[in-house]
Amino acid sequence: MITPTPWLAETIWEQVYPLLPEFTVEVLPELDSTNSELMRRARSGQHSPTLLVAERQTAGRGRMGRVWQSQPGDSLTFSLSLPMSPADWSGLSLAVGLSLAESLHPDIGLKWPNDLWFQDRKLGGILVEAASMGGRSQVVVGVGLNIRPRPADGLNTLPAALTELRPDMTAPTALLSVVSPLIRALLAFERDGFAPLQRRFEARDVLKDRRVHTSDGQQGLALGVGPGGALQLQTDAGVREVHSAEISVRPFTEESST
Ligand code: BTN
Repeated sequence: MITPTPWLAETIWEQVYPLLPEFTVEVLPELDSTNSELMRRARSGQHSPTLLVAERQTAGRGRMGRVWQSQPGDSLTFSLSLPMSPADWSGLSLAVGLSLAESLHPDIGLKWPNDLWFQDRKLGGILVEAASMGGRSQVVVGVGLNIRPRPADGLNTLPAALTELRPDMTAPTALLSVVSPLIRALLAFERDGFAPLQRRFEARDVLKDRRVHTSDGQQGLALGVGPGGALQLQTDAGVREVHSAEISVRPFTEESST
């Protein structure tokens, strides 16, 4: 039997409080979705920066209306909500993925726009949402990370798990590793945008120089990302920029349906 590691909420709070004075940390045993809860709070006018962790989500959400499934203990599911008003929002979700990957392991790749990949399998996903009320914008960044191997759940390819790379990691220690750097990355993004991160993203870009197809029917060679975070696609009709977070991209060799 594996003894659960306690959540290191106080340590996280001590790291983050100097950066965000009204910061709070909450760990709940069960929620529908940490993103849904923080979006409800933002819409009801609660703007203080909050880290919300759920040990179990009953209605976890992924990008493009998909379901996000996770097993308690085998995965980390959290969302971070904070007020933000960058001059340009483009590339925000790429900045989040980059921060997580850099905090966790040099071998973690990024699949545009923001999936964490290891050896061509999905290790984690990110759902970025924003609520605007009375001229204020609140961003909610949701992160789901596979910590221990989990069942394929009908997927063609087994997901990757963080313990393949870091056998010592648990959901609480992974959370401690990522939160403070993620908040610094969000504050830096608000100030400087995505452009300063372009080269670091490129170093982990798993699609670069691969033939890909998009969910809106385009195909071509992935050339990398531009300074605004758009995917540069070499097609028969020339170089196209793919911007939308509502488009998913697959390399031709990869057949899973996450
Ligand atoms: C994706 O890859 O499609 C994004 C997955 C995001 C999942 C996380 S788990 C914590 C947060 N709450 C949710 O309902 N979704 C995000």
